[in-house]
Amino acid sequence: MQLASDGLPAMDVGAWAENKHYYLNRYCDMFAVGTSKKWPQRYYIDLFSGPGIGINRETGQESPGSPLIALAHPFTNFVFVEANSESLDALKVRTEPLLNGRHAEYILGDANDVFSDIVRNVQQQGSLSLIFVDAYTIQLKMRTMQWFSDHFRTDLLIHFPYGTFLQRVIPQTQTEMTETTITELNEFFGGTEWQELRGRKPNPRVYLNLYEAKLRELGYMIGDNYPRMANIKNATLYYLVLASKNELALKFWKNTNEIDPDGQRALF
Ligand SMILES: C[S@@+](CC[C@H](N)C(=O)[O-])C[C@H]1O[C@@H](n2cnc3c(N)ncnc32)[C@H](O)[C@@H]1O
Repeated sequence: MQLASDGLPAMDVGAWAENKHYYLNRYCDMFAVGTSKKWPQRYYIDLFSGPGIGINRETGQESPGSPLIALAHPFTNFVFVEANSESLDALKVRTEPLLNGRHAEYILGDANDVFSDIVRNVQQQGSLSLIFVDAYTIQLKMRTMQWFSDHFRTDLLIHFPYGTFLQRVIPQTQTEMTETTITELNEFFGGTEWQELRGRKPNPRVYLNLYEAKLRELGYMIGDNYPRMANIKNATLYYLVLASKNELALKFWKNTNEIDPDGQRALF
């Protein structure tokens, strides 16, 4: 990891990270403000927090990561999970001055294995959470989603790794894919149905349908918009997916998507 101007480690990011953060920022605004009258405790839970600063690999420009973006909104509590200790330490230094009396918990570990730490730190009565799932690929298992569904009232904003992973890997044939990858995909999708798509031409809608069907089984509704993150050649990297059990969240997500990152009003 390279160092940012504050001397702490930073992530190397592509230009599309700005678009991802644009949607996160707009959704945080609607969520944290729009729910404040009804819910005294509003948690932001970042399961793949990163170090808090990204450096654009082409321009060298620094930009705030998801935890710093969320801290600019009126959440009352924060939980930051990160598997890399260097990143978590840097995040702590960067975020503590921005808490302004609010509480933050910093958890080192695999997002799939930190249930007990999260339960200990999130008050379940009278609270609402926004969970940001921003893994590089297919790290978050469906059983972890199930656990959140069973324990918390939460909206999930999910990075769905289409071009960065699924599009490349699922079309592979039996002999090309390792057992580890097969297990990881089974865990990501929460079942083996994806295996019927092996050897076939990739299709983002089909992959998304499969994933969403699993989230629906857990009781979630899915927002109608899927902002697409693309690289400089306009190849799709990933989509953002919003899942919630609350109609209001779907409305927030629709409003979030009404203006795109270029300031254009989206056509519906
Ligand atoms: C895409 S980056 C996160 C970027 C951050 N959300 C942002 O927008 O600024 C993914 C992060 O997840 C961390 N990570 C990878 N596997 C993990 C796991 N199983 N559990 C928790 N964190 C993990 C990586 O170290 C990396 O910092």
